[in-house]
Amino acid sequence: MKISRTLMMSAVSVLILAVVSCSPSASQGLTQQTPNAPGVQAPRTYQDVIIGFAQLGAESEWRSANTKSIKETAEALGIELRFYDAQQKQDNQIKAVRSLIVQKVDVIGISPNVESGWEQVFQEAKDAGIPIILVDRRATVPDDLYRAYLGSDFVEEGRNAARVLANLVNGKANLVELVGTVDSAPANDRYKGFREVLKNYPEMKIIDSQSGDFTRAKGKEVMEGFLKQYGKEITAVFSHNDDMSLGAIEAISEYGLKPGVDIKIVSVDASHGAFEAMIAGTLNATVECNPLLGPQFFDLALKVINGENVPKWVPSNEGIFFPDNAREELPNRKY
Ligand code: AHR
Repeated sequence: MKISRTLMMSAVSVLILAVVSCSPSASQGLTQQTPNAPGVQAPRTYQDVIIGFAQLGAESEWRSANTKSIKETAEALGIELRFYDAQQKQDNQIKAVRSLIVQKVDVIGISPNVESGWEQVFQEAKDAGIPIILVDRRATVPDDLYRAYLGSDFVEEGRNAARVLANLVNGKANLVELVGTVDSAPANDRYKGFREVLKNYPEMKIIDSQSGDFTRAKGKEVMEGFLKQYGKEITAVFSHNDDMSLGAIEAISEYGLKPGVDIKIVSVDASHGAFEAMIAGTLNATVECNPLLGPQFFDLALKVINGENVPKWVPSNEGIFFPDNAREELPNRKY
């Protein structure tokens, strides 16, 4: 069963792309075609802006889909994109932002690897007159250091994962948690949201919680450690993303237990790999976190460049998926 709006979201994304690419502002030279009153500047178009993007890395299926969406949308809209991959290192991401400032791009998009430590470099961008748009992940900086945040409600994702898991285990479990990258917004918020709902289920106990850094390899390694320490005591796993779940599934099988049966597993993302695992019966549910943010990002960036008011938070639409129609849903998945 799919609770919500993925299809609608894809349709909306396509529509945004279609509208954007057919709209006068996206067609060649609104600037040339529309006469303006003297002193009134014509709106900039996709073809005459340069947009920078400081991506955090390529740690998961989700991230690859996010990067693809940004690059493909830029190409489709004819935008000059300057893209950096920071390989999950904050220092590299800061260097990328500084380099984009020197290049005088019109907007900088960034998915901050971790939440803290951005104030100085964002201030440098502000001083240079370059707006920052946070994409996918938030940073803990004063509001005036970024123009907008485009992305998910990670706290709600954590709450939803807890609701789903509580239902699967009838409110009683010894569970372990695979946390995402330490100090990242999705890890902090999913951790928080999950616990908020768990307060209503006193018989659901978190017996251990460790970071698997959002990667499959680390998720497997941490799950192996949990199994070594707690063995059959573990009855459920909450994993902050699908990649770590897939690693945990391998660890559980190698340990001789049945993932999805002996140990219930719920995670976040709704990636291809998660759908395949649900079809195989090894994953019990995945809460969607939508990475296809390219169309919304460039739409927002152009509005910011043209001085339009934009909301401080543009949320992405998301749902929850279960094994019962994973097979039917899989062909619709874009990541
Ligand atoms: O910031 C979004 C998170 O980052 C996704 O849930 C995870 O898979 C990715 O690495």
